[in-house]
Amino acid sequence: MANATLSINDREYSFPVLVGTESEVGIDIGMLRKSTGAITLDPGYGNTGSCTSAITFIDGEKGILRYRGYPIEELAAKASFVEVMYLLVYGVLPTKEQLADFGYRLTQHTLLHEDMKKFYEGFPPSAQPMSVLSTMVASLSTYYSNTEEDTDLNIVRLLAKLKTIAAFSYKKSIGQPFIYPRNDLEFVEDFLHMMFAVPSEPYEVPSAIHEALDMLLILHADHEQNCSTSTVRMVGSSGADLYSAISSGVSALSGPLHGGANMAVIQMLEAIRLDGANYAKYVAKAKDKKDPFRLMGFGHRVYKNFDPRARLIKQACDRVLMQLNRTDPLLDIAKELEQVALKDDYFISRGLYPNLDFYSGIVYRAMGLPTSMFTVLFALGRLPGWIAHWKEMRDTGGRLHRPRQLYTGELIRAYAPAD
Ligand code: ACO
Repeated sequence: MANATLSINDREYSFPVLVGTESEVGIDIGMLRKSTGAITLDPGYGNTGSCTSAITFIDGEKGILRYRGYPIEELAAKASFVEVMYLLVYGVLPTKEQLADFGYRLTQHTLLHEDMKKFYEGFPPSAQPMSVLSTMVASLSTYYSNTEEDTDLNIVRLLAKLKTIAAFSYKKSIGQPFIYPRNDLEFVEDFLHMMFAVPSEPYEVPSAIHEALDMLLILHADHEQNCSTSTVRMVGSSGADLYSAISSGVSALSGPLHGGANMAVIQMLEAIRLDGANYAKYVAKAKDKKDPFRLMGFGHRVYKNFDPRARLIKQACDRVLMQLNRTDPLLDIAKELEQVALKDDYFISRGLYPNLDFYSGIVYRAMGLPTSMFTVLFALGRLPGWIAHWKEMRDTGGRLHRPRQLYTGELIRAYAPAD
């Protein structure tokens, strides 16, 4: 095994170097504080591996993303979201029988306890859907036992119920009655049915929308140690139950620098449209360090050349608009803006490219999904990834997550009340 040497105040310390299956190199500093008294400082964790994981591989420089070894492009083209859920959570692609059994189990847990419907009555009409989602997920832990034996059942319950919770929150926001889940429908189809059906009319889910959403959910399903997944692992590391850990992940995802960016992109494109599509002005604002404005949907902590998911979503965007015979002025603005930014040295030199969120909102709009639900859809897609990480952390006996800090406050001083 190779070693890395660190020199502090003329003393040398040696640390093991670990190599992942894709040849990524990590220095194991587990003994750093014990042997040197020092810690590492890495705000934002850009250089810190918090765990080893066998779920998802990303090579940000090459634009590679694989779930359990399978390239995202292949999964997006050939798999269903239910298959990908199984793959992420259980580590292998399901056989036909396993898939049928898993699909059946998912249909058996879609209902919410009737009492939970009363929670929706308590939320104000202006409630943020992500806050509702997080609250409702956390409240599931008050209904179900969290014993070790129930772990798998709780995983299936949560996978099955999140779409009901999400669809009910949408119905509540537009003042329509809840539409109950239907066991004869496929997973994504059932979600769209709960979102768009009304009691008085038959509703058939358009196949173009069903297929596109299935693929979008696959593209969102996991992304290794991102902000929300790390949050799930962090909360789960204390031994908190699945529902509490996932509820925290939902909250972390809601922020505009993470999953909330898909809504922020649409707001930004709309503002640009209303401003006469003045791309140059917004690119200049994004480059101006005194202006807090950023090009939403641009840039990524890991991808520095391109985001493979953004490429797939851009293609889906054109396809869905064509299939549904729709146009969207925001798509033209997005494409123009992308071209302007991609030729600009500011964005090139910093490796800023469209990310997953840049085009996803336009596809959702084409499907008739409201902007307020975009981040909820992200959460629906990301759920199997969060669960897979929570499960892996428990199965591999992870330690309590507890980072250190460098204290920069006052030295000890005597208590004296302020005047
Ligand atoms: N517009 C303008 N400038 C940007 C942008 C942007 N969207 N993103 C990064 N930069 C600049 C920064 O100002 C910084 O410039 P500097 O070196 O001159 O100081 C440099 O690029 C590096 O940016 P950081 O913020 O240090 O990069 P970090 O890896 O911390 O941030 C992030 C990544 C949060 C995604 C950032 O690119 C961003 O804010 N993008 C817009 C929000 C967004 O689209 N988020 C979704 C991310 S994908 C996801 O979570 C699903």
